[in-house]
Amino acid sequence: MRAGMKRLGAALLLLAPLGAAGAAHAADAAAGRQVFHAQCAICHSDKPGVNKIGPSLYGVVGRHTGAEPGYSYSVANKNSNLVWTPAELDAYLNDPQKIVPGTKMPYGGLHNAAKRANLIAFLATLSKPGAVATAAPAKPAGGKAAAPSNG
Ligand code: HEC
Repeated sequence: MRAGMKRLGAALLLLAPLGAAGAAHAADAAAGRQVFHAQCAICHSDKPGVNKIGPSLYGVVGRHTGAEPGYSYSVANKNSNLVWTPAELDAYLNDPQKIVPGTKMPYGGLHNAAKRANLIAFLATLSKPGAVATAAPAKPAGGKAAAPSNG
């Protein structure tokens, strides 16, 4: 019994530095991306227009509730009449049923404030123009110019 408890304690101690490192930053979008993939990506895509069990979260920061085209929201969500500001998201992600009573989002809440801050920082990157990677053409290939010429 005792030995088992000790082993568990040791395992928690090993994990502790990772948690402390995450909490040291005020809001870390890269850490938030990991939270997203661990806790949200099973139901939500970060790609525009991709609805899964839940609506796409691309551009969710600043978006009105229930506004993702093609997603079938619950009446509770659709009529909640909120705007997903960072503050609103923070309260919602801590306790979804409290902010949108009757929501069909089957998620109990993320109770770690630092992780929520990181997650919201990540969600905010999804709405920035230019956040989507575009392949920069290095040099025009071959001799043929794409632009029309008079020749
Ligand atoms: C098990 C599935 C599931 C998980 C996990 C989940 N969600 Fe959801 N989420 C949903 C569903 C379903 C809805 C639609 C709720 C409704 O219509 O009532 C939703 C709705 C939302 C909305 C409202 C979107 C809008 O357009 O109004 C936000 C924001 C959101 N989720 C964020 C998150 C974040 C961030 C996480 C991770 C911490 C998460 N969700 C985890 C299923 C999930």
